[in-house]
Amino acid sequence: MDLEALISAARDVRGKAHAPYSNFRVGAAVLGPSGRIYVGCNVENATYGATICAERAAVCSMVAAGETKAQAVAVFTDCNPVVTPCGICRQVLSEFADDMPVILAGPSHYSVMSLAALLPNRFIFNPKGAVENG
Ligand code: THU
Repeated sequence: MDLEALISAARDVRGKAHAPYSNFRVGAAVLGPSGRIYVGCNVENATYGATICAERAAVCSMVAAGETKAQAVAVFTDCNPVVTPCGICRQVLSEFADDMPVILAGPSHYSVMSLAALLPNRFIFNPKGAVENG
């Protein structure tokens, strides 16, 4: 897995973030099963609540391209120490990976965590009716 390429994609798309309210820019890059990289940035909204995080934007891009299994995700901010994805994004990422590396990157360093460590006991919906916690 080319971690540098994934981090670089997240860093580049961060420049496109629409974050006039928080001024906190985030870039994300998801590695699909084909090896293709899908990117997303945070897109804020005047309502605040309609804001979309970078990670979810990247996941939506992957799904729209017809891929539904993520191999890894990189999140890029200018924070030191690095930030971790918000709770909603963790759950959305877990829809497309039982577990995967989550690369938390900043301008001068990165660290890697597992999605399972970031989201233990994730919610899993069984269409037959019962719910499980995986
Ligand atoms: N944000 C993300 O893009 N990803 C996260 O995991 C956490 C927060 C964005 C949303 C909002 O535009 C800004 O960061 C401040 O919360």
